[in-house]
Amino acid sequence: MKLMFKPLLFHLLLYCATQALGVTIQSVPEVNSEGVIQTELEKTVSLVCHADGGHESQADEELVWLRNGAVVSLKEENMKGSSRVCVTPVIYEDNGATFTCHLSRNATVGASVTLNVTYHPQFSGSEEVVVEAEAELVLRCDIWANPPVSSISWTLNGSTVDLKAGGFTVTNDGFTSQLSANFVEKSLHEGTYQCTVDSPIYGEHSKMFNVTVTEKTMKFPLLPMLAGLVVVCLTALLAVIARWDKITKCCK
Ligand SMILES: *[C@@H]1O[C@H](CO)[C@@H](O)[C@H](O)[C@H]1NC(C)=O
Ligand SMILES: *[C@@H]1O[C@H](CO)[C@@H](O)[C@H](O)[C@H]1NC(C)=O
Ligand SMILES: *[C@@H]1O[C@H](CO)[C@@H](O)[C@H](O)[C@H]1NC(C)=O
Repeated sequence: MKLMFKPLLFHLLLYCATQALGVTIQSVPEVNSEGVIQTELEKTVSLVCHADGGHESQADEELVWLRNGAVVSLKEENMKGSSRVCVTPVIYEDNGATFTCHLSRNATVGASVTLNVTYHPQFSGSEEVVVEAEAELVLRCDIWANPPVSSISWTLNGSTVDLKAGGFTVTNDGFTSQLSANFVEKSLHEGTYQCTVDSPIYGEHSKMFNVTVTEKTMKFPLLPMLAGLVVVCLTALLAVIARWDKITKCCK
């Protein structure tokens, strides 16, 4: 019994191996060993999916592409045997996006790749900031980047901002670094500020802020003034009416 069973199993295995259908994804730029494609904003990623069984490609196998699980609509002639999709231009939202190609008739036969979109913080040269004395000063720097920036620093007139002396606070929510001071004084806060971020792959980026502190302007509290005036007039009018009563009574 045993002897007869062995060759049968062998034949079965052989049969399965030659029939096993696979799906492979080729891409420009290339997929690395972890199934990740390295790219950058504005670039183009081109993906080709092939259905192959053993040696020959399966020219009539229908293929399906998914982006993050949602079906990518393809033209009829781009579905049989091999199928091409192009990501152009690459945008922020493509970072971490997974592209999957599988057989239309059997979703378990498929392959996936993931995009890794790298970018540095989006900076522009310098900014002129005018702030009134005693008001609040707020400076913001974009720090959103992939890979994340390794350091963020703020300087005033070339030296590290003295948080304590200037009553500054620095906050960082992963997207923006914010330097702020609640009560601006010309002697403490006027000058040239710079925020500098360091990216592990793109190097340093900085932005300048030329801060000018102007004199405090008196703000005229118009509405409370008007309300006050109305009250004053009404009281005067009432006083006159009351007085008039007395005067007329008196004359009788
Ligand atoms: C889909 O393919 C897998 C792997 O080749 C196989 O085990 C499964 O039976 C297939 N399912 C169908 C419905 O053909
Ligand atoms: C994406 O690329 C950056 C820069 O090469 C790397 O540091 C990071 O680990 C990559 N992330 C993934 C998920 O591969
Ligand atoms: C920074 O430099 C400017 C120009 O030299 C100067 O007017 C300002 O007072 C300096 N600011 C501080 C806080 O020292």
